[in-house]
Amino acid sequence: MPSLEEQVTDALKSISRNEDIKSYVQESVELYPLLWKAARRFVTGESKQEAIHIAQQLKTKGYAISLEYIGENTTSIEECERVKNEFLALIDGSGEVSCTPNDSISLDLSHIGLSLDENFAYTNLLELAAKAEQRGISIMIGMEESSKTDAIILLYKRACEKFTNVGITIQAQLHRSEQDLQKLLHYPGRIRLVKGAYQEHSDYALPRSIELNNRYLEMAAQILNAKHPVTIATHDENLLQELELRYDLIGPHAQYEMLYGIRPDRLSALRHGGNSCKVYLPYGKEWYLYVCHRIAENPENVYRALTDIIRPYDGGRSMDYE
Ligand code: FDA
Repeated sequence: MPSLEEQVTDALKSISRNEDIKSYVQESVELYPLLWKAARRFVTGESKQEAIHIAQQLKTKGYAISLEYIGENTTSIEECERVKNEFLALIDGSGEVSCTPNDSISLDLSHIGLSLDENFAYTNLLELAAKAEQRGISIMIGMEESSKTDAIILLYKRACEKFTNVGITIQAQLHRSEQDLQKLLHYPGRIRLVKGAYQEHSDYALPRSIELNNRYLEMAAQILNAKHPVTIATHDENLLQELELRYDLIGPHAQYEMLYGIRPDRLSALRHGGNSCKVYLPYGKEWYLYVCHRIAENPENVYRALTDIIRPYDGGRSMDYE
């Protein structure tokens, strides 16, 4: 029998995939502003100017940044073009933040066309990678549901034939990922290692467990031993302590990355310890799925969300990073 906490997590993850609830929230003049107050703990703003403003504050404090215009599964060519143009403008805007190749634009390939046509998504990816290269910044591809993993890895490999500033995210939870990793290590791009946010069948993935943490550590070891550029993207204290104990992660290859608003105190401590640290900064209006995932991952966040809805907005979480 799953614990109450596991049941809450499952329920919230199911709600996050429910298109009817999502549209209802997104279109409701009462509900959207109310839930937006809770979302702001995890989302930098609705516009790129707000995200760039927070990026500037964090860069001044010595953090690398990863900016994402949130969204996925775009269903028309016109919408994909609009999204691509938003990303192009974001890359231009990153010039205001004096970014380096350690900084990145994160994106989901289904946001720029993967759900419509692989080649269309690939062409869009190349255009973004070229613009990012001009600006001296990287592109980090997010990993989506396991039904898309093959296509995402394929497009990543094709992009690597033309660009060295493109990286990829890999989910430790998928049973296939250890094998995928062996192949990805032959490509130059940075590998961002995450546990995985999507609810997957046990035929394909492990749930949150000691077994999953062991697999995460094993995969991290393989990337680190290969001296391949890696981003350790987790908030899990057990993993962080284990990695700090086993490896010296201070150096050009390794980087820690956490999601905006989550464990800023821990990321600050890692940075003060001399590690390269990065904050993932999402923005946009399509925050529903993203925020449901963040609340589901830590049921205490339900209480935080309620408090945020009642309290006046305090100007964002960038002051929490030291
Ligand atoms: P886990 O979820 O097991 O949580 C362990 C502990 O960390 C919790 O007990 C709590 O203490 C803390 N914690 C975790 N989440 C928290 C939260 N929301 N609020 C407060 N505390 C929290 N996934 C994916 O499928 N594809 C992708 O492309 C990406 N990209 C990505 C980029 C970056 C930079 C990060 C950090 C994460 C992702 N993810 C992702 C999400 C990732 O797969 C995973 O869902 C979250 O990071 C949560 O997993 P943890 O490793 O933190 O551990």
